[in-house]
Amino acid sequence: MRFRLVHAAFASSLAAVAQCSGSNSCSNGNGNDNSFQQRCSKLASQLKIENATVWFSEYVAANTNISFSDTDPSCGQGPLSVGVDFCRVALRVATSSRSSISMEAWLPRNWTGRFLSTGNGGLNGCLSYDDMAYTTELGFSTVGANNGHNGTSGAPFLNNPEVVTDFAWRSVHTNVVVGKSISKTFYRQQHKKSYYLGCSTGGRQGFMSAQSFPDDFDGIVAGAPALDFNNLNSWSGHFYLLTGAAGSPTYLTPDQWTAVHQDILAQCDGIDGAVDGIIEDPELCQYRPESLICPPGTPANTSTCITGTQAATVRAVFSDLYGQNGTLVYPRMQPGSELLGEAYIYYAGQPFQYSVDWFRYVVYNNPNWNPATLGPADYAYSDALNPADIRTWSGDLSAARARGVKILHYHGQQDQIITSANSPRYYNHVAQTMSLPSSALDDFYRFFRISGMGHCSGGPGAVFIGNQRANTASLDPDQNVLTAMVRWVEEGKAPDAILGTAFVNGTAGGQIAFQRWHCKYPLRNTYTGKGDPKDPDSWKCVV
Ligand SMILES: *[C@@H]1O[C@H](CO)[C@@H](O)[C@H](O)[C@H]1NC(C)=O
Ligand SMILES: *[C@@H]1O[C@H](CO)[C@@H](O)[C@H](O)[C@H]1NC(C)=O
Ligand SMILES: *[C@@H]1O[C@H](CO)[C@@H](O)[C@H](O)[C@H]1NC(C)=O
Ligand SMILES: *[C@@H]1O[C@H](CO)[C@@H](O)[C@H](O)[C@H]1NC(C)=O
Ligand SMILES: *[C@@H]1O[C@H](CO)[C@@H](O)[C@H](O)[C@H]1NC(C)=O
Ligand SMILES: *[C@@H]1O[C@H](CO)[C@@H](O)[C@H](O)[C@H]1NC(C)=O
Ligand SMILES: *[C@@H]1O[C@H](CO)[C@@H](O)[C@H](O)[C@H]1NC(C)=O
Repeated sequence: MRFRLVHAAFASSLAAVAQCSGSNSCSNGNGNDNSFQQRCSKLASQLKIENATVWFSEYVAANTNISFSDTDPSCGQGPLSVGVDFCRVALRVATSSRSSISMEAWLPRNWTGRFLSTGNGGLNGCLSYDDMAYTTELGFSTVGANNGHNGTSGAPFLNNPEVVTDFAWRSVHTNVVVGKSISKTFYRQQHKKSYYLGCSTGGRQGFMSAQSFPDDFDGIVAGAPALDFNNLNSWSGHFYLLTGAAGSPTYLTPDQWTAVHQDILAQCDGIDGAVDGIIEDPELCQYRPESLICPPGTPANTSTCITGTQAATVRAVFSDLYGQNGTLVYPRMQPGSELLGEAYIYYAGQPFQYSVDWFRYVVYNNPNWNPATLGPADYAYSDALNPADIRTWSGDLSAARARGVKILHYHGQQDQIITSANSPRYYNHVAQTMSLPSSALDDFYRFFRISGMGHCSGGPGAVFIGNQRANTASLDPDQNVLTAMVRWVEEGKAPDAILGTAFVNGTAGGQIAFQRWHCKYPLRNTYTGKGDPKDPDSWKCVV
């Protein structure tokens, strides 16, 4: 209910609902107008797209329960419903003689004239159906693609660089070019503005577009981006080398990680002025794990303290990773994320699957490569290989800037998968490469640090910022990164801070626990010492 009210307010302030031109009605109104449905069913036979096979176009009434039986089971895609009527189109587009993408376009009846592409996650070939539902409900003609392969495994990359090229950039770009033409055919007019929404690998895809395909989007919302991708896979693979297998002297139990987390808070939580379990700026936290070493005489297997060997593991986790000749591979894991469930993916004493798959199926084309042998020579080799320039580390965004593209970058400060320390590193790389201070970057590129947020969602902070449907407290552009982007592109009003919400039970729609502004980098959020820390106005973005 609350959602719908805000939705209407958003729609009336920003929406320019398209009226179809021509004599045939294609009403986007409420009535019993069947022409939308008829035009939808006919669309499949009308589309003439090079190298494409259109599977179907079908009308989906609002709130229909859609199940995705064709989707690879590893994607774990459950059924979902979309709160508006739309036309669903599915097709396959060949991208080379030995690769293709599977894509869908979701075309809402109540179209705002806006186009949007979603992205992907991990090494996945899974459409982000939930993101598609979110933006279709908001009136965007929306596309999603499988990134060139199906399922979460990297095995389809084996000895097929074309599939890697799809994954690096060609899936999103093809999806956008084809999707815009489908949208135009269906609505009989060109979209007015084009947007992108993605997180993690999806964040990397957004930056790939900004770096290499500046014509694809007018506004890009890119979260927790998997930038410097070759090195990211080296870094995420190296945790297993630090911890060893479960039970090794170097390994910490989950209980010991809990103790580490509490010790990190004891050392760093107060730096921002409020002791609330949330470290606003983990860059300021130089954690010293040696404080947790067990005093002499402590019984073995005590879970509230650690050995000197374990302290060395913890110190390495929170230190930058250097490779051959002292070159930086990837910045350190930021302190603070240790309790989030997925943290144990890195600390569980097992190799990280995406890293293993990347080295096996892309870097070495050897399914038997042993992740326990990973080392500096592999880091250097894989980054030099850089297949299809997947690195995504160009600091030159001048083509995007010249075209007027806006970029909203965000990163959770408790990200347990892609360290949030990499995002300021990229921002500063752009500043150096383009020789621009933040006051000039602000015209087209803004970066927000979301305190207390895990990898794209979750965490104890005010993490509901509208980056995903389930992560939406409000459609007010001050509180929603997507509608903030629409306002920036269409009204020229850029976001200075994002107001996030935390719910008592962790799911949207319940009782609000607190709200907090998330500052634009390089500003940092600081408690003023006056007023309730749960009140966002008790905090200030300071230099
Ligand atoms: C379509 O959008 C307009 C505002 O742009 C809104 O007033 C109307 O209620 C919407 N119709 C439906 C069926 O959602
Ligand atoms: C949607 O359909 C699936 C089976 O296709 C069913 O398991 C699920 O309960 C349905 N969900 C709702 C909300 O009806
Ligand atoms: C992916 O799955 C879709 C739907 O089942 C199928 O049409 C397509 O051929 C598959 N693509 C690949 C590359 O296997
Ligand atoms: C269609 O596929 C061929 C062969 O792979 C390719 O050369 C051509 O560029 C493709 N056309 C489009 C529009 O992508
Ligand atoms: C202590 O840890 C060792 C090695 O992990 C294990 O074999 C042993 O059973 C543990 N002892 C207790 C009392 O938990
Ligand atoms: C490291 O330095 C050596 C000697 O200067 C050089 O041969 C090698 O290519 C360098 N390796 C990297 C990864 O830069
Ligand atoms: C939170 O969840 C609990 C148990 O599910 C429920 O009893 C409680 O009313 C909920 N509180 C709020 C504020 O939604």
